[in-house]
Amino acid sequence: MLREPLLSVHDLTIFVEGQACKPVHEIVKKVSFNVFPGKVLGVLGSSGSGKTLTCHAIMNLLKKPLNVTGRIQYIGTEVLYLPDHEIRKIRGSEVALVMQNPHSSLNPVFTIGSHMVETLRAHQNISRKEAKKISLHYLEKVDFEHAGDIFKQYPFQLSGGMLQRVLIAIALMLKPSLMITDEPTSALDKVTQTHILNLLEKFKHEYGMSILLVSHDFDVISRLADEVIVMHEGMVVEKGPLLKVLNQPQHAFTRSLIEASSRLKRGIK
Ligand SMILES: Nc1ncnc2c1ncn2[C@@H]1O[C@H](COP(=O)(O)OP(=O)(O)O)[C@@H](O)[C@H]1O
Ligand SMILES: [Mg+2]
Repeated sequence: MLREPLLSVHDLTIFVEGQACKPVHEIVKKVSFNVFPGKVLGVLGSSGSGKTLTCHAIMNLLKKPLNVTGRIQYIGTEVLYLPDHEIRKIRGSEVALVMQNPHSSLNPVFTIGSHMVETLRAHQNISRKEAKKISLHYLEKVDFEHAGDIFKQYPFQLSGGMLQRVLIAIALMLKPSLMITDEPTSALDKVTQTHILNLLEKFKHEYGMSILLVSHDFDVISRLADEVIVMHEGMVVEKGPLLKVLNQPQHAFTRSLIEASSRLKRGIK
């Protein structure tokens, strides 16, 4: 029997309101998908197809002039129209977003440690000492050998890959049921990319966490996804289990993404 989805997105439409003689401009058009407990949904699409806006809509982060219609349900609760104080209970501790650009996700004037301690204390009633202990534990979980050093450093002192691991640690330490990772490996070299994907796979198994994995790269999606949706010009043009989409792509755009994938070309599935 199929379990209830953890996250259900139905007919999500994101548009910019028309002004004067400008018509309404729809960016994301009637997008629907489900994420099931413990599963990875890959969201594949070229740049500008509306992936990031979709992630932000799920977190209820979109502001004017962007408007949202449709339904976004997290374990049956409609999140799109929840008041701010209610959405904050879900954001971070239930659904965590690892944003596309790690350097702009952290405030440059605070150390990694203070980001982690403040994040924990915003969600849990714990002492600074306890929060530091938990932070160090999660920095070790993302493979930092010298977690104490990283804790004291500022974001600009870390490489893109290290920062991405820090963001995953921050997301992970609140034990979310769903982690949304928006292009987690795009700016990284292949070795670092593999490291990040291995970590996500490990945490999926260790915590039974669901992942919404967003990427423009079929190589990345094919490493982890159980199910895939393909977005093109704001619409879902293809959806299904990974192997079905890989072996029987219905849409020319999906076929072009598969052809562009070096890993799949080498026959690694
Ligand atoms: N605040 C905004 N106002 C108007 N258009 C926007 C805004 N943010 C993004 N867009 C546009 O929406 C489209 C989709 O953006 P995005 O979701 O970032 O795409 P992706 O993540 O798939 O590359 C892009 O064409 C972008 O220019
Ligand atoms: Mg994006």
